[in-house]
Amino acid sequence: MTNTPTSANHIQEAADYIRSKTNLTPEIGLILGSGLGILANLIEDAVSIPYEEIPHFPVSTVEGHEGELLLGTIQGRPVVMMKGRFHMYEGYAPSVTAFPVRVMKNLGIASLLVTNAAGGVNTSFVPGDLMLLSDHLNLTGNSPLIGPNDNALGVRFPDLSEAYSRRLRQVAKDAASEHAFTFKEGVYAGLLGPSYETPAEIRMLRTLGADAVGMSTVSETIVARHAGIEVLGISCITNMAAGILDQPLSHAEVMETAELVKEKFLSLVLSIIPKM
Ligand code: HPA
Repeated sequence: MTNTPTSANHIQEAADYIRSKTNLTPEIGLILGSGLGILANLIEDAVSIPYEEIPHFPVSTVEGHEGELLLGTIQGRPVVMMKGRFHMYEGYAPSVTAFPVRVMKNLGIASLLVTNAAGGVNTSFVPGDLMLLSDHLNLTGNSPLIGPNDNALGVRFPDLSEAYSRRLRQVAKDAASEHAFTFKEGVYAGLLGPSYETPAEIRMLRTLGADAVGMSTVSETIVARHAGIEVLGISCITNMAAGILDQPLSHAEVMETAELVKEKFLSLVLSIIPKM
């Protein structure tokens, strides 16, 4: 095995460093999207480790994304949370974007909640909707699993027929009904970015069966499934995708909508975590 940033010894070194900072063995991983870092406030007795301290960890660059790993409990469940994630558009190799998922697996997680900000492709959606991912379209043109496969981490050809766990989606729906809330549900198209899409691309995505579009999540999910981790994905629909409304898209709009839904998001996650 070549000594790439994803090789087993690098994963082990990163995980060992994290274990030297806390005795907590996390069961659940959380990866937070743009503007949703507020979820970090839910963690009790949190130990915070800046990414740059962790051996071999990449460092995030985009505005609105922070870079720290938090370990603690939510509703009594031990969790590890990535506050800030790595996108391929930042220039990282796809395998590097996946490194933290493998470290979380080494730490002990069995399930992963991934959240993201996304554009609504389905015209019945409105900004502020929360969508459970039923599936994804990997349109990044790449895969985090490219390269030699380490059989200790997962099989060469992992099955993705249930990329997003049916069981966890039901858990989320049950939690939502306690809040008299209904999730949207649909297919997330993951693109490379960092430009937003053209109206023609959005029409294409709709034809392909996409309900939402974003620039994250698919590589993390692929690595998680490779590692045998159950995945729950939630998109915050922060804007209607390009060409649907007669207005330009902006990162400011994405952050504003995420800000508006954060309380709802927090209360739902608080109900979901104990049942994951
Ligand atoms: N397109 C891609 N990524 C996004 C969008 C969008 O419209 N909104 C938030 N992230």
